[in-house]
Amino acid sequence: MYSRRPTPLEKTRLFLRRTPAPYNGSVGSAYILGIESSCDETAAAVVRSGEELISNVVYSQIATHKPYGGVVPELASREHLRAIVPVVRKALEGAGKTYETIDAIAVTQGPGLAGALLVGLSYAKALAYAADKPLIAVNHLEGHIHAVLLEERQRGRHELQFPVLALVVSGGHTHLYLAERKDAGWAYHNIGHTRDDAAGEAFDKVAKLLELGYPGGPVIDFLAQHGNPDGTKFPFAQIKHRDRNPLNRHASDERRTDFSYSGIKTAVLRYVEVHDMAESIRRRREAISAVARSTLQDYLAACDRQTLDLVASFQRAVVDDLVSKTLAASVEYGVATLLVTGGVAANSELRRTFEKRATDEGIAVLFPSLKLSTDNAAMIAAAAFPRFLAGEFATAEVSSEPALRLG
Ligand code: KG4
Ligand code: ZN
Repeated sequence: MYSRRPTPLEKTRLFLRRTPAPYNGSVGSAYILGIESSCDETAAAVVRSGEELISNVVYSQIATHKPYGGVVPELASREHLRAIVPVVRKALEGAGKTYETIDAIAVTQGPGLAGALLVGLSYAKALAYAADKPLIAVNHLEGHIHAVLLEERQRGRHELQFPVLALVVSGGHTHLYLAERKDAGWAYHNIGHTRDDAAGEAFDKVAKLLELGYPGGPVIDFLAQHGNPDGTKFPFAQIKHRDRNPLNRHASDERRTDFSYSGIKTAVLRYVEVHDMAESIRRRREAISAVARSTLQDYLAACDRQTLDLVASFQRAVVDDLVSKTLAASVEYGVATLLVTGGVAANSELRRTFEKRATDEGIAVLFPSLKLSTDNAAMIAAAAFPRFLAGEFATAEVSSEPALRLG
């Protein structure tokens, strides 16, 4: 007699019946394959039960975009298309898994570049259909938050002190979320974001202006250690307001903490003009273009004192602004644990400053490791786990959402 195959949801229910423990780290082994392609990294990873990183493969497109000083969306899509099959295969092989032996496939739905997202989502959909596995759509920003949570659980730490505030600070976002446990999963409430450029975008644009390559964050981080951060003061405006928008479900006089990083980029440009730095920038461009694969040391050798001091002052201003505003919001909301994540969370001065000043306020601050600060798929697989337990699966109609919001 004909017997139909169980649906992915039915299979997961069967799995859950076999694994009675709740989502506290002792649940059985669910192996989730994560796929991420929202910007300029093609990534795949296998994570066990949201708590153990089994394999993690990131193919960076930096070399492709470097000559343009920023991500070129069409090139990003093309590179994702070329890389996605080998990257996923490598992640599965590294985990000793096959399409048959994983339990679910998680993929970034948004936010991100439309064409880039589409490559990962279409591939994950086809894979889920062919291998008959549940598909879980994940918000990239939630992924960054789970990069921290994954590594905490991996260290055996399953309990967080609440309230929890997360600063997601990357090339595309500078967002503050209160994060709460809700049922088996998480709920997020946005209490602030950038009004214009993201902090990482400011690093990238200043680096481009000064001919320091792409992406700007890592090179500025390195060069700033050789300059005087008190050389120039770049003041920041305080943007405080109460949200009176009746459409905001949390409205009612809520204190918001917004950021703005386009002003500092203009201030650096003005500094460059006033101090006649065009010639030194031109010399650096020539010196760097003469090197086949430029290293951080090459950039250092191509910088004069004025440039190093400018870069150090710029970084100091951005770090001070991020830390001061985030800690002020933390105090206001009585936050016990602060999560700082996203590409800019790799910044050494940001980490040092947060660690010192958050400790002074009695707030615990947690970061992802450097490799999970920037885009990766482990964070996507980890964020998918509570949804896997809840049976929250995407349908065949799921589409990518370039402007997807969190909370
Ligand atoms: O999270 P991510 O890989 O991609 C987005 O979701 O945007 O973040 C990339 C951003 C880039 O703007 C890059 O310049 C910045 O993170 N970044 C850094 C550092 N490493 C990467 N910014 C400051 N310091 C760093 N060490
Ligand atoms: Zn990101």
